[in-house]
Amino acid sequence: MRRNIVAGNWKMNKNAEETEDLLNELIDKLPHDVEAQIIVAPTFVNLSSAADHLEFTNITVAAQNMHQAESGAYTGEISASMLTSIGVRTVILGHSERRAYFHENDALLASKVDTALSHDMEVIFCFGEELKDRQNNQHFNVVENQLRDGLFHISKASWEHIVLAYEPVWAIGTGETASPEQAQEMHHFIRETVRSVFGSDVAEDVSILYGGSVKPDNAKEIFSKPDVDGGLIGGAALKADDFVAIVNGIR
Ligand code: PGA
Repeated sequence: MRRNIVAGNWKMNKNAEETEDLLNELIDKLPHDVEAQIIVAPTFVNLSSAADHLEFTNITVAAQNMHQAESGAYTGEISASMLTSIGVRTVILGHSERRAYFHENDALLASKVDTALSHDMEVIFCFGEELKDRQNNQHFNVVENQLRDGLFHISKASWEHIVLAYEPVWAIGTGETASPEQAQEMHHFIRETVRSVFGSDVAEDVSILYGGSVKPDNAKEIFSKPDVDGGLIGGAALKADDFVAIVNGIR
């Protein structure tokens, strides 16, 4: 079901104590009457304690990544059942930093998506063009290919477990944001692309988040666009006051 979502991707930030401090601040400060699902994604080592800490709150946790295999000799990796066994039911897949620094390609992401779905997990599937793609007017093609090659093999029924996160690489951590109009233009294109393959009910139901330098001063305008259903927030999710202000921008 299409819903507003604001998710904080903490990346490789916050040790155990800092994680607890930030969660406590969020529990204190986040509004209870906002019509949005609120998600935080701390690092793997702090996920279990975060899931416990947030158990009776309106905040849920997500993992930032996951391996595609069920188990085995994959030193340093984390499986889906490890996540679900500690109460984590959502995973971010395909973040541009995973694609760029850890060489995750569309085929690998497609198999990670399959594994997550087979464990009934919710997937926040990230994709977005690089600056050169936009400069060459290839941004729509790039986004369409990322969706087709990494995600569109799933069944129609699986879409209820999918959240899309459009994150133009040139806007991530750069302070450079897509304008609300650029975000809307791309989100509309994404929804129409989903519609053309899976039909209107899927297209209307899927939540499409925008990510890339969302801050308290630009969140409201971006979220006000009709095809933007919330945000995936990096840097600004690390400060409770900023994250709360962004969540309030959804109203
Ligand atoms: P940013 O990161 O908000 O720091 O640009 C967004 C993301 O990587 O999801």
